[in-house]
Amino acid sequence: MSEFRTLGEFIVEKQSDFPHASGELSSLLASIRLAAKIVNREINKAGLVDITGSVGAENIQGEEQQKLDLYANDKFKAALEARDQVCGVASEEEDEAVAFNKELNKNAKYVLLMDPLDGSSNIDVNVSVGTIFSIYRRVSPVGTPPTQEDFLQPGDKQVAAGYVIYGSSTMLVYTTGNGVHGFTYDPSIGSFCLSHEKLMTPETGSIYSINEGNYIRFPLGVKKYIKYCQESVPEENRPYTSRYIGSLVADFHRNLLKGGIYLYPSTESHPTGKLRLLYECNPMAFLIEQAGGLASDGKNRIMEIKPTELHQRVPFFVGSKAMVEKVEQFIEQNPNE
Ligand code: AHG
Ligand code: MN
Ligand code: MN
Repeated sequence: MSEFRTLGEFIVEKQSDFPHASGELSSLLASIRLAAKIVNREINKAGLVDITGSVGAENIQGEEQQKLDLYANDKFKAALEARDQVCGVASEEEDEAVAFNKELNKNAKYVLLMDPLDGSSNIDVNVSVGTIFSIYRRVSPVGTPPTQEDFLQPGDKQVAAGYVIYGSSTMLVYTTGNGVHGFTYDPSIGSFCLSHEKLMTPETGSIYSINEGNYIRFPLGVKKYIKYCQESVPEENRPYTSRYIGSLVADFHRNLLKGGIYLYPSTESHPTGKLRLLYECNPMAFLIEQAGGLASDGKNRIMEIKPTELHQRVPFFVGSKAMVEKVEQFIEQNPNE
């Protein structure tokens, strides 16, 4: 890790990768960096002050909102609105997309979609949580309020995506389509410092991550794949190791570094899966592809799905290339369930 290469400097250095963006993306990522520090500070106080627990309301998806879900949502929105690069945001915690009203924001070229706090049900018990973000150029004319079309673009139109993981250390990992880079937060100097340049995920791995309690409700192909993971074939490193934290960001981050696969298939209670295409799956798909891996809904590449709704869910299989290809084969061979 180099404390002499901070995220801010790195972004400026890479600015020439985006001749059309001339510093705008740098300013946008600066908003994210700042909000991440504020949320990090608050999360670190969890348990000491009364900031954990539910607010007693549900979001549009019927999930209980935690105080920190709303805190993170507000801070990211405020940091983005304070600069002039984003004309509107969509969030897990907002029913509809939010258009920023400030005059300068109307001339902004980008929209951002986010899961402000991922894994928030884990926060009371001191388990890693995260923030996930996805950035697009708007398709509606600059100077007008953003439209639904700006937010419902397929993942392969993303210009940047990333996540912050608030874990044993806090990290920001992002891509702008030129590799994946990771920065570790040094609280003593208040900076994210370059720790993982050009991250590549192993071609295959030996970790599978799935909520196996739902086994009985999985499609047949997924059940068979799980049995395949558990078979003893020492020359192929099987049985694999099962690891599941229940925070997508944390499970994804571990598998990205070590090699593995994360699965959230459809179940009886969640017929299209649980994870949200726009602000959970697409950003992770962009990152994993940039790191040499794959992201699929079991049949199709995640980033080619044309979204129809803001909070749309999708089955999600993401990780090392060979492992995602393998589960796709199992699903293809067992099509009727
Ligand atoms: P969120 O906290 O943003 O609602 O996301 C929770 C998601 C994801 O982080 C995690 O991988 C998954 O839900 C866990 O779901 P199960 O508890 O059904 O395994
Ligand atoms: Mn989430
Ligand atoms: Mn969330």
